[in-house]
Amino acid sequence: MQAMAQSHPNIALIKYWGKRDTAKNLPAVDSLSLTLGGLWTKMRIDLSNQLECDELIINGVNNESNLSRVSQCLDLVMGKNRKFAKIISECNFPISAGLASSSSSFSALVVAANAVMNKKSDTQLFASQAGNISGSAARSLLGGIVELKNISNTIKIKQLSNVTRWPLSVVIAITDKNKKSISSSKAMNLSSHSSPFYSAWIENQSPDMNEARLAVKEKDFAKLAAVSEHNCLKMHSVMWTTKPSVVYWNAATLNCMHAIRDLQQSGEPVFFTMDAGPQIKAVCLPENETRIIKRLAEIDGVESIMTSSLGEAPTSSTQL
Ligand code: DP6
Repeated sequence: MQAMAQSHPNIALIKYWGKRDTAKNLPAVDSLSLTLGGLWTKMRIDLSNQLECDELIINGVNNESNLSRVSQCLDLVMGKNRKFAKIISECNFPISAGLASSSSSFSALVVAANAVMNKKSDTQLFASQAGNISGSAARSLLGGIVELKNISNTIKIKQLSNVTRWPLSVVIAITDKNKKSISSSKAMNLSSHSSPFYSAWIENQSPDMNEARLAVKEKDFAKLAAVSEHNCLKMHSVMWTTKPSVVYWNAATLNCMHAIRDLQQSGEPVFFTMDAGPQIKAVCLPENETRIIKRLAEIDGVESIMTSSLGEAPTSSTQL
């Protein structure tokens, strides 16, 4: 039996940083994200009686380092008595570099694992399974603009806007394709124990979520820009004040931020966000995209540019 799934990564505008339950991987805060249609992960699962262990191939190369997390995800969805699997993953963007590859990978893996078991599609269940392995992955189960809420001992995702209601573009300036120095899982656990700003971060998330939700409802770009940049810089302030400090930015990241601030001064509707990596994501309106690409491409240290509109929920198919 074989199943395939394709899923898109998502970037948070109102971020998740910190866990309220590490064993269940439940986030400490609610979050809001954009699903990115231009970036994807394709995941194939082949179940076989011939295998003696799981095998993982990412972009054509055997991958040992991510195998245990992938096997753990398959155990969760399929049960521990499952057959071993060959998992073949293909990604059209750099992985483990702060471009949310875990969100597209684990959402695709959960969808493919359920498909291979012939399980009926269930977005909330799939989101909690994906979130159990990687918090941000839960949001990739829906397209457009997505909210993730903490509900008692689980999470719930909701689409706030579909891909056509408010089309947004994301210009991604890649400033370093290398693997990040510390994983977000490890870094956020360090933050929760050592940053003096951590409790303030948690306490102030609700107002940011409310403001962003309202901005999406009213399609108010300026409102969304202000609260997103504020929330992003707050998360990075928690990272910077973690012991030992976690600094994902490089010089080009900062130069891109200044360039985006200059563009804003000249009246361009654009704002920045950064995650656990040095890449800059500039959110803009589709009609402004070309000017943003041109400006960011001029900056020293920008290696390449990717663009994306909003993307849809994952898709899957099966084969005997
Ligand atoms: C900075 O989802 O990678 O991208 O649940 O430990 O796998 P784990 O963390 P992960 O963290 C994402 C953090 C972030 C912000 C966000 O996507 O909300």
